[in-house]
Amino acid sequence: MLVVVHEDYDALSKKGAEIIASRMRQKPNLVLGLATGSTPLGLYRELIRLYKNDGLDFSKIVTFNLDEYIGVPPEHDQSYHYFMRHNLFDHINVNPSHVYIPQGMYGDIKISSFETNPKIEQFCTWYEDEIKRHGGVDIQILGIGGNGHIAFNEPGSSLGSRTRIKTLTQKTVKDNSRFFKSAEEVPRYAITMGVGTIMEAKELLLLATGDGKADAVKSAVEGPITAMCPASALQLHRRAIVMTDKAAAAKLSAEFITYG
Ligand code: PGA
Repeated sequence: MLVVVHEDYDALSKKGAEIIASRMRQKPNLVLGLATGSTPLGLYRELIRLYKNDGLDFSKIVTFNLDEYIGVPPEHDQSYHYFMRHNLFDHINVNPSHVYIPQGMYGDIKISSFETNPKIEQFCTWYEDEIKRHGGVDIQILGIGGNGHIAFNEPGSSLGSRTRIKTLTQKTVKDNSRFFKSAEEVPRYAITMGVGTIMEAKELLLLATGDGKADAVKSAVEGPITAMCPASALQLHRRAIVMTDKAAAAKLSAEFITYG
């Protein structure tokens, strides 16, 4: 695992985008794994800049997003479909038919039957098959939760898990409630790539910034490999880069660190 500590968020975002851009130049039909959340926003802004100013070409890449809420329509401003359009896809020349984001809407299925719904299971199998059909994800961008989660794989998620439905923790539901007009709208479930799915990407690029991530980064990089910190599975990956700012690296042992 390569741990690179950057001066600040801008430097990290620039370096992250450079890595993605260099992989795209080496392989124009790169299969790129994308993440939502506040952390990759700077990297996406930088990719947009490279498209506009340097002619970075997205026309042949294929993208797979990690996760999506269930029951939140794609046009809702809290859906990950909306997030990706707004923060990246609307500003680059990606081919819309090359974009994969887990489907969040399943008609009028009752929430109580979500967890065992065959339509959702079918979708998850199809998503995994599509990743395989494209030859697997070449490089996967990841954030990390303050509790060590990756995508919606909360602590306790099997390290071998595949794309599936997950019940959101009460804390996540509570944290999200401020973004929705009513309590009924707040999603209780999500579809997420599993830890096992993520680990099959050929390369992983995990981004972490701010002191709120320092404990999670320490557990992920130096702690035991445990389902209680799903990001610790990265220790088993042959090509994992962890990029942080100084605050998120504050609790790491200095010997592991390369300065970017
Ligand atoms: P953040 O979320 O980038 O908004 O901090 C990361 C995550 O929870 O995976």
